Amino acid sequence: MTPEQDAYIDTRERFNDEAVARDYVAKKNTLATSKNRREMACIGAALEGLAVGSRVLDLPCGTGRLAAMLLKRGFEVVEADYSAPMIDAAKAWYLDHPLDGESASRLRFVRQDVMHTTFDDDAFDAVICNRLLHHYPEPATRRAVLGELARICRDRLIVSYYDSFALSALKFRLRNRLRGVTPTDRIPIATSEFRRDYESCGLRLLRTLPVRYGISPQTYLVLGVG
Ligand SMILES: C[S@@+](CC[C@H](N)C(=O)[O-])C[C@H]1O[C@@H](n2cnc3c(N)ncnc32)[C@H](O)[C@@H]1O
Repeated sequence: MTPEQDAYIDTRERFNDEAVARDYVAKKNTLATSKNRREMACIGAALEGLAVGSRVLDLPCGTGRLAAMLLKRGFEVVEADYSAPMIDAAKAWYLDHPLDGESASRLRFVRQDVMHTTFDDDAFDAVICNRLLHHYPEPATRRAVLGELARICRDRLIVSYYDSFALSALKFRLRNRLRGVTPTDRIPIATSEFRRDYESCGLRLLRTLPVRYGISPQTYLVLGVG
């Protein structure tokens, strides 16, 4: 197995677990933390101008924490993930936090692998890929994922990655260097490196939305397709 397949399979299998899904829903499906609120605000800003009724894919959706916000904006929403336990936790969350009937009629959950989806070309107006690419140290993995998401997206792709220009990314590098460890997960990369990834898939930058500029590495990009 190549190193890029390692990270791809490891990431896929790590979350494919009931205990991990339980823990994730408790930590992430809440707006009580400022980090979660900031992430939501970035994604909300990235969706500005997208018409009511647009088809939006959230892949990977994890425990479905974006669904209510996307439905509130009037979109037709598909929440997709490889992990059945994560999807089950998302469905359980919306049983405990019910949506109104009209919103629920615009929501669908499906199991999909981000690198090999079964969707048609241009199936969605917008695709959101939140908190996945930083798990992939190899450009080839990131590019395979971005290429597949660009294929199924008509208007804009919203992706998060970890930008190395941030205080906590610097601390991460120092800590690993002191320990003599080469990190294989949660990898901050340079803006220029990520630009090469998405440009190689025919995507172009429309907007950059850092979660906390210079402090947190987590950064959202709105990428134009075609
Ligand atoms: C860090 S979580 C992010 C979930 C969600 N986007 C969020 O921000 O809450 C990573 C997610 O990626 C999913 N995942 C990992 N590999 C995948 C793959 N190959 N295809 C689809 N989903 C995958 C996991 O099951 C998990 O739900």
